[in-house]
Amino acid sequence: MKFDTEIQKRRTFAIISHPDAGKTTLTEKFLLFGGAIQTAGAVKSNKIKKHATSDFMEIERQRGISVATSVMSFEYRHMLVNLLDTPGHKDFAEDTYRTLTAVDSVILVVDCVKGVEEQTRRLMEVCRMRDTPVIVFINKLDRDGKAPFDLLDEIEKELSIHLHPLTWPIGMGKDFKGVYNLYDQSLLLFHANQKATEEDILPIQHLQDATLSSVLGERDASMLAEEAGLIEGVYGAFEAVPYLAGKTAPVFFGSAINNFGVKELLDTFIRIAPEPRGRETTARPVEADEDKFSGFIFKIHANLDPKHRDRIAFLRVCSGRFERNRFYHHVRLDKEVRFSNPYTFLARDKDVIQEAFPGDVIGLFDTGNFKIGDTLTEGEEFYFTGIPSFSPEIFKEVINKDPMRTKQLEKGLLQLTDEGVAQLFTQHNGNRKIIGCVGDLQFEVIQYRLLQEYGASVQFNSLPFYKACWITSEHTAKLEEFIRFKSGNVVQDKDEHLVYLAQSEWYLNTERNNHPDIQFHFTSEIHK
Ligand code: G4P
Repeated sequence: MKFDTEIQKRRTFAIISHPDAGKTTLTEKFLLFGGAIQTAGAVKSNKIKKHATSDFMEIERQRGISVATSVMSFEYRHMLVNLLDTPGHKDFAEDTYRTLTAVDSVILVVDCVKGVEEQTRRLMEVCRMRDTPVIVFINKLDRDGKAPFDLLDEIEKELSIHLHPLTWPIGMGKDFKGVYNLYDQSLLLFHANQKATEEDILPIQHLQDATLSSVLGERDASMLAEEAGLIEGVYGAFEAVPYLAGKTAPVFFGSAINNFGVKELLDTFIRIAPEPRGRETTARPVEADEDKFSGFIFKIHANLDPKHRDRIAFLRVCSGRFERNRFYHHVRLDKEVRFSNPYTFLARDKDVIQEAFPGDVIGLFDTGNFKIGDTLTEGEEFYFTGIPSFSPEIFKEVINKDPMRTKQLEKGLLQLTDEGVAQLFTQHNGNRKIIGCVGDLQFEVIQYRLLQEYGASVQFNSLPFYKACWITSEHTAKLEEFIRFKSGNVVQDKDEHLVYLAQSEWYLNTERNNHPDIQFHFTSEIHK
């Protein structure tokens, strides 16, 4: 209860999208509104080149720079906004998925030309697992895209979420005239490459208002009246409850690059997005307004420079107040730890902080004490739940090229996988080690880091698997029989959970049909 005012003024969220939909551009506009940056292009220059798939060093170097922008905090209308950055490169998708466990809501950007894309689908699946409230921003209205009603249909169907438009576009592409704000009944007029000013916002009494036809023309005004009427009939009044429950997503239309419709989005976000929420743990639900501090590690970033082996562990504060130089309980290690230089990521002054509150993300210098999912408390024994591992998509066997360094290799593999760079599977009843990743780049990262940091030289052999499924069953005998028959496909993850590696969707479906008593899961909770 002590920290209510601090909690109420915080909003912690992420902007997510398929690469190229406009996430970076929108982020930048938000930061400009928040006064966190002064010039356009500041975020862009830190951006990872999405198409450079071979040069992981360059990507990591840029990621190094972007650690500073991993969390961007700024004040807007007396609120403290924490925007968590997610990598654009698809090979780092796991990083994005985990970052989503540390936010209270998201803004999903969809390109109006391309509609729902592969990464959009996956990111939404992760949001749905946690019922994260979502606001949709349909971007690039200055281009000829799909018809707005078709887009709504597509998003609702493909992402299995109800939508509720709060603004509505008038025209598109070269005929784009602006957006009508259905919520507070005003019209925002669009001028390409010009900043929208207050004068561009026209209050409208009703949809038959003569102002509409005088500024939009007869045809567009009557089309807007018709469409807005239709929307009102179908969607009714906007309600916060289904949005906060992650069931309905408000929709905004605009053009990020033209800074159009962005302020409306940010203003509404500030008004409706949830404040820092409590979290489930292995022992009991923890509320944000509890007096005692607790938090969890959701991301670890290593320094690729061999001269600096320090890592930064990102901690989300879940309850109470975090204080610099105070001892906290590291639950997994059963050890008291304290931090003399906890980092904050206020975009303007990245600095050591004295204290942090629920919703805040702080960077802790780490020398190997942390792994993803670790919990810090004031003494209580619990872990935050809901931090999943996802099925990797590329599998390779680790071949040790230098048997003299076997111990170092094992240590390196364990540490790198603790950081969440990749997942490690070991052959059931065997010694074969298999690494699973979301993208090819991680294999290069692992190979390089094993050599630089652990002096271990490895090679990878591709394996023909397409998915890893964690398997469980109440029928021990049936599970054992399955393991016996499928011994070549069954491995264990680091926590000794059983995992079935499927060669293809067909194999997976066949096994599922043949073994109804066994459950196949695509994710695994780090703590249950
Ligand atoms: P991402 O972070 O989601 O990957 O997307 P990003 O913001 O980098 O935007 C991808 C491309 O789309 C960029 O062009 C950006 O300028 C453009 N873009 C963003 N918003 C809009 C919009 O409202 N309308 C139009 N027409 N384009 C938009 P690029 O050519 O890849 O990069 P750049 O050369 O502009 O930096």
